[in-house]
Amino acid sequence: MSVDDLLPSRQTLSRYAGHSREKFTRRDFMKWGAASAAALSIGSTTGMADNAVPVYSIPCDGPNCLRAHGAARNLPVGSAVVIQQIQRDAKFRDLLQNQASILVSDWQMKWNVLRPAPNQFFFADADWLVNYALSHGQLMRGHNLCWHQALPNWFAGYANRSNARHLLSQHITTVVSRYAGKIHSWDVVNEAIDVERGNANGLRDTPWLELAGSDYIDFAFRTARAADPHALLTYNDNNVEAENQGSKRDAVLNLVGGMKKRGVPIDAVGIQSHLSAKGEYGAEIVRFIRDLRALGLQVFITEMDVDDSGVQGTFAQRDALVAAIYFKFLDLVLPEPNVTALLTWEERDKDSWLENRICPDGSRPRPLPFDGNYQAKPAFLSMRNAIDRCPRKSA
Ligand code: G3I
Repeated sequence: MSVDDLLPSRQTLSRYAGHSREKFTRRDFMKWGAASAAALSIGSTTGMADNAVPVYSIPCDGPNCLRAHGAARNLPVGSAVVIQQIQRDAKFRDLLQNQASILVSDWQMKWNVLRPAPNQFFFADADWLVNYALSHGQLMRGHNLCWHQALPNWFAGYANRSNARHLLSQHITTVVSRYAGKIHSWDVVNEAIDVERGNANGLRDTPWLELAGSDYIDFAFRTARAADPHALLTYNDNNVEAENQGSKRDAVLNLVGGMKKRGVPIDAVGIQSHLSAKGEYGAEIVRFIRDLRALGLQVFITEMDVDDSGVQGTFAQRDALVAAIYFKFLDLVLPEPNVTALLTWEERDKDSWLENRICPDGSRPRPLPFDGNYQAKPAFLSMRNAIDRCPRKSA
């Protein structure tokens, strides 16, 4: 599939309005990436003549940054981070200060890091990150308290039906109370639904379901609320964004609707937003967000990126396509009043979890708003333009 087959319609692109109120046509959109690459190219990292790394020269600091534009809309904007990236790289710290008013740990607050042994916790890295965020005026999300992945190696041989509920409540109480009052929102349960291989109610077969009981999700949320009454308690999941993912959306609505009915303390749903450059996004995601609003729930866009690994095209063309998907999706979801935070899953392409995928030409995906040289890409402009177009969020 080539980029040209995938670029959005002229009508969609004409809504791509920046500060200048400039309207982009399909041709302009393609030329924009290609022309900047031709005029300013610093050459190709791959050695392929048609795959030079584009140089966009998009101003992205000070008043131009996402953090400032998000603040003008009362919308926290940020990303997942790995602590060592912050500690060892001053340029990365600058980038984060400019772009992020909210941070989340990519993997250092998960069970396998926080819980090296059944009766031992490791908090040094998580403590460092929470303090870093707060001392830089950034909100901090907690990710995550209950997931079937990233469990410690000891878990499989140790957890059983007699101790799993205790392990879960002990973990949640210990971790959440340690950071009580400092966390904007916790992903209490992550990815608990699997409509293809799950059970009748859509619940994924996980060690938690098997060992901690069918009400483990309610139990996790109640335990988290008791440990920190202020953090917004979130159910976080993926594969609900595209038009054809209706059965997963229904299952999530059924889950969180049931929780609300039972009086379980849940405040928000995290829509991860790992999107595909080939995906169709439209009215269904808006309907889903409105259904969540009717249940009294906020929505956070928690892990956004756009996977272009299956697409053929130059870097500039792929960047244009990725940017178009960013804009299309964010321009659908951000205007909804209950969408109240926006995070990408890392800032730079080279830090993405998609980095291990290979594109048809042998290159790596370009799914994030910044490239490996800290350069803002067209996706950055899409984020900023979509933020600018959404109404200010109420406090
Ligand atoms: O454990 C070693 C650590 O000791 C070492 O310092 C480090 C050096 O690179 O490697 C560590 O392994 C890392 C591991 O998480 C820790 O458990 C891997 O590099 C790292 O890539 C890994 O994967 C993470 C994964 O979740 C599992 O935790 C990804 O970075 C992270 O992007 C991914 O994030 C998930 C979300 O939590 C939920 N939604 C989907 C998303 C993408 O899969």
